[in-house]
Amino acid sequence: MKCLGELPPELLAERKDLLKDRVAVEMKRYFQRDFRRIAHATKVARYAEQIAKEERGNMVVVLCAAYLHDIGIHEAERKYGSTEARYQEEEGPPIAREILAKLSASRDVIDEVCDIIGHHHHPRNEETDNFKNVYDADLIRNLEEQEEPINEEKLAAIMEKSFFTTGGRKLAGDVLDRRGKIK
Ligand SMILES: [Fe+2]
Repeated sequence: MKCLGELPPELLAERKDLLKDRVAVEMKRYFQRDFRRIAHATKVARYAEQIAKEERGNMVVVLCAAYLHDIGIHEAERKYGSTEARYQEEEGPPIAREILAKLSASRDVIDEVCDIIGHHHHPRNEETDNFKNVYDADLIRNLEEQEEPINEEKLAAIMEKSFFTTGGRKLAGDVLDRRGKIK
């Protein structure tokens, strides 16, 4: 088999494009019948893709990280009886690394995706564009999944304080409004 570096650019692009679809399949396989988590990850990936189209970012990294961001949640529950962010952040990267390595993702993609997963609820002072896109997408989905509609001022404060991207703020407004989640 040829090594990846020898592939012509158009084939390489195609492979990168396939990677995100294969990651989605592996995520579903891993979560098995946990349809709530599958739906969450799938939505976060869709939102992250929309945001990344308007912002800067590497689509392969953004989508792989979005699909796998909560992949440590079952292990966190099993080991600690908790879905707390710090446990998922600890448990997620080794599982993601195994999935991505099995799919022959490049070293750079694996390292960056695992780094995002490993702190996906704890932004650093300086963040990458890829991280910001995934973070905002997760935030939108988490707001959308809340039972109670959110009041307008509270949403405005979250938009101002927590969101990183303009595309994320805009999408949050559209999604929550469409779903009747703003009061
Ligand atoms: Fe999430």
